Amino acid sequence: MASEKKCPFQTQQFGRPVDDNQHSQTAGPRGPVLMQDVHLVEKMAHFNRERIPERVVHAKGYGAYGTFTVTGDITQYCMADLFSKVGKQTETFARFSTVGGESGSADSARDPRGFALKFYTDQGVWDLVGNNTPIFFIRDPLKFSDFIRTQKREPQSHLKPHWRRWDFWGEVPESLHQVMFLYGDRGTPKSARFMNGYGSHTFSVYNADGKRHWVKFHLKTQQGIENFSDEEAVQIAGEAPDYSTRDLFDAIDIGDYPQWKMFIQVMPESDAAGYEWHPFDLTKVWPHDDYPLIEVGVFELNRNPSNYFQDVEQAAFEPGNLVEGIGISPDRMLQNRVLSYPDAHRYRLGVNYHQIPVNQPRCPYATYHRDGTMRVDGNGGGSVDYEPNTMDGPVETGRTKEPPMPVHGDGRRYDEFACDDKDYYGQPALFWNKVLDDPARDRLCTAISNSMADSPQRIRDKVLEHFRKIHPDFASGVERRLEAPADEPIPIA
Ligand code: NDP
Ligand code: HEM
Repeated sequence: MASEKKCPFQTQQFGRPVDDNQHSQTAGPRGPVLMQDVHLVEKMAHFNRERIPERVVHAKGYGAYGTFTVTGDITQYCMADLFSKVGKQTETFARFSTVGGESGSADSARDPRGFALKFYTDQGVWDLVGNNTPIFFIRDPLKFSDFIRTQKREPQSHLKPHWRRWDFWGEVPESLHQVMFLYGDRGTPKSARFMNGYGSHTFSVYNADGKRHWVKFHLKTQQGIENFSDEEAVQIAGEAPDYSTRDLFDAIDIGDYPQWKMFIQVMPESDAAGYEWHPFDLTKVWPHDDYPLIEVGVFELNRNPSNYFQDVEQAAFEPGNLVEGIGISPDRMLQNRVLSYPDAHRYRLGVNYHQIPVNQPRCPYATYHRDGTMRVDGNGGGSVDYEPNTMDGPVETGRTKEPPMPVHGDGRRYDEFACDDKDYYGQPALFWNKVLDDPARDRLCTAISNSMADSPQRIRDKVLEHFRKIHPDFASGVERRLEAPADEPIPIA
C-alpha cells in the first residue's frame, strides 16, 4: 500500500520486507517474545492508535461521491459560480447520518438524519450541512449541548432512558414542531435514498448586482419517500443495524444512482421584517403557498468511496464553507454553527484537516497557513509566509458583491421571539391539521406514547398540556395510549 509503485511483497512501514508475518520472535521455540521484534511492536502500536475521536454528534454515517447538475436558472438571485449556467456540473460528496447514536449504532433508529453535502465548485468548497427535516428542536445555540445530552447516555447508568428527552422538550416548547416530525412517519426513513434533505436554516444569496434574497434549500428524493414502521425499525436495528449503509452502497454499486431535485424558496429581503413567521427562526418553515419551490438542479450520487475511513470518517463538513453568492443570515443557530464545526474538526482530525483529499478544494487555493501537525502538502515550500509583502505572494481580490448585513441593537441576552401560543403551537397545528391524515396521526400518537412510557407523571402532564394546545385530539390520542394496555387499538378522536 501507500507507495506509488505496487510492492510485490509485504513490508514494514518504512519498506523493509517482512520475512514472517505469522510468528513473533521468541527466546527458543517455547520461550517468551523478544522486545527486539520491531515488526511485532510496530503492528501492535499502530493498531492501538487506529481509532480517532468519533463525531460528538452524527457519529454513525455513510457517504458517497456524485455530481450536481444545474437545471434551472437562478442567476437573478444568486451569483454563485456553480449555478451560473443550466447544464453546469459540479463534483460532490455526501454523508448521511443518525444524530444521537455512537458510530456502531443502528441506522434505523428513530432520530433525525444528517444530510450533509459538499460541492467542489470552481471557486471553492460549498458545504450544505442539513438534515432530513426543514426545522430543528431549538433556535438558540446556547441550548445545543443540553439538548444533545438528552439524546445521549444517562451519566450514572450509561443507559438511554427516554424520559430525559421528554423532560427537556416539556420545558422547551419551541421543540414541539420537530418532535412531531421525529415521531411521525419520516422519523425512521429506510435509507438516505428515500428521504428529503433540507438546508433548514435561512441563508442569504445575492446576485451579480449585489442584491440579496433570503433562501431556504430543499432536496426532494426522486426515489419516493419510504419509511420503516416503528416495529420494523426496531426489528431491523437487531437484524441489520447497517441497513441504510448497505442500501446506498449496493444501489451505487449496481449503477442505480439515487437522485434528489434541489429547489429553493426565495424571500425578498424586504419581506423579512413583516413576515408572519420569524424568517430566521430554525423551528419554523416557510409555507409553500407563501414561498413556492423553485427548481435549481439535480444532485446525483454515483461513486462509492474507495475507502470508508479515508473518505467518510475523515470528511469534515462546515456550514461556514460558503462560496461567493451564498452567505449566512441572522439565524443565531447558523451563526454558531459556522464556528462550531471547524473547532470540532481541529480536535477530531487536526489543524490540517483541509489537506485530507475528501475535504480539499478542487480549485487552486493559496493561504498563508503554515506548519501544524501532519502538514504534508509541501507547506508552501520556500514561498513567502506573511502578507502584505513585496515578494509576489498571493493577495486579496478586493472584490466582493456581498451586501452588508444590517445589524442594530444593544448587546445583551434577549428572548426576542414572540413566545405566544401561535409561536409555539401554530406550525405544529398546521402539521397536525393539514399534513397528517388519521392513520398518520394514529401512528404519531402511538410512537410518542411508546417513547413516553418511562416518563414520570409530572413530565407526561407537562408535555400533554403542550400537545393540547396543538390539538385536543393530539393530547388525548397520546394520553389514552399511555393509559391503555399495549395491544388495545385506539382510534384518533
Ligand atoms: P404543504 O402542504 O405545501 O407541504 C407539506 C409538506 O409536508 C411537504 O413538504 C411534505 O413533503 C411534508 N410532509 C408530508 N408528510 C410529512 C411528515 N410525516 N413529516 C414531515 N414532513 C411531511 O404545507 P405548507 O408548506 O403549507 O406547510 C404546512 C406544514 O407542513 C408546516 O407547518 C410544516 O409542519 C410541514 N412542512 C412544511 C415544509 C415547508 O418547507 N413548507 C416542509 C416539510 C413539512 P413532500 O412534499 O416531500 O411529501
Ligand atoms: C455534525 C454542532 C445544529 C447538521 C455536527 C458536529 C458538531 C455539530 C460539533 C460534529 C462535526 C464533526 O466532528 O465532524 C452543531 C451545533 C449546532 C448544530 C453547535 C447548533 C447550534 C445542526 C443543525 C443541523 C445539523 C441545525 C441541520 C440542519 C449536522 C450534520 C452533521 C453535524 C448533518 C454531520 C456532518 C457529517 O456528516 O460529517 N454538528 N450542530 N447540525 N451536524 Fe450539527
